[in-house]
Amino acid sequence: MRYSDLTLDREGLAAAIACEDAAFEEALREEAYRVKVATIGPEVYLRGLIEVSNICVKNCLYCGIRRGISCQRYELSEDEVLATAQIAARRHFGSVVIQGGERTDAAFVRKITRLLKAIKSFDTGEDPPLGITLSLGEQSRDVYEEWFDAGAHRYLLRIESSNPDLFRKIHPDDPLHSYDRRLQALYDLKEIGYQAGTGAMIGMPFQTAADMADDLLFFKEFDAPMVGMGPYNPHPDTPLTISGAPYPSAERRFSLGLKMIALLRLLMPDINIAAATALEILDPCGREKGIMSGANVIMPNITPAEQMIKYNLYDRKTLNASNVDDLKAKGIPIGFSHWGDSKHFRRKELD
Ligand code: 5AD
Ligand code: SF4
Repeated sequence: MRYSDLTLDREGLAAAIACEDAAFEEALREEAYRVKVATIGPEVYLRGLIEVSNICVKNCLYCGIRRGISCQRYELSEDEVLATAQIAARRHFGSVVIQGGERTDAAFVRKITRLLKAIKSFDTGEDPPLGITLSLGEQSRDVYEEWFDAGAHRYLLRIESSNPDLFRKIHPDDPLHSYDRRLQALYDLKEIGYQAGTGAMIGMPFQTAADMADDLLFFKEFDAPMVGMGPYNPHPDTPLTISGAPYPSAERRFSLGLKMIALLRLLMPDINIAAATALEILDPCGREKGIMSGANVIMPNITPAEQMIKYNLYDRKTLNASNVDDLKAKGIPIGFSHWGDSKHFRRKELD
């Protein structure tokens, strides 16, 4: 396939995803980078990622911290979270992401509310104060409202796959793991006023090029102001890996990861697209390559090292805390000291 033949409808996207021609993929990534710079500029926004706990009530079949897996669990204390958020403030990251396994018990919900209020009251000497994104799974609408009122303004909740049949295959078949419930949560977040980000895994067992094309069209249809997608990385002890279901090679999952970023940038030129950590598992410069393929957000992991190693969603071989310096060395401007909201979201607010 030639780059000039690319169309952004379902058929065209699926053909681009299926095409393994290196020259095509390179032309696509270059064009996506050009579109990004022309639309939102070359700046990369940072979010300091704090993984608050690897305790999770869910049992997703692909995940290394699922309830059914035996691993060492941890939960950062409030003081530890605040000290970590201070690091983000001191490094002028502009915003933090509080991510963790899903928990809906009242003690956890209240703890997050207290943390949000405490982080919002930091005196960073900067305007605006530290922005806060949450990534804590499905919660009731009331809880989402409580956290929004306490100061969170963005929320990440991946759909994982926009194909309900594939969603079913990678999750246990029970009410806790429901595609419709996930979708409802995304619409709740949006209605409450969050910038509701979503995303999917790329290169999973059973996933077709058409499924991935549909994921991109789902992001467009949902009008997501931010998207985080990353390659699927098998964790050896999960049911999905143990089942032996085949999935694409590491090399292919990596090139698919970059290609999905590039295609999404063409489809939604002014949104925030994250270069996910999962890219870095497959290539030491994975996140940088994500940026060069059209992504504009990096989430340097600032979780204390002892706990970071336990937040083992997939088999983490490398733990690269931040490649901010690498990006700077390349001459890519870094957006310090501001929230880095997506231009897409702000444009809509002005309408
Ligand atoms: N490979 C890649 N990504 C994974 N996640 C969970 N397990 C894996 C895996 N094995 C991703 C999911 C989830 C996010 C926190 O981590 O997409 O939304
Ligand atoms: Fe829990 Fe998220 Fe892992 Fe599912 S993917 S088991 S919700 S941490």
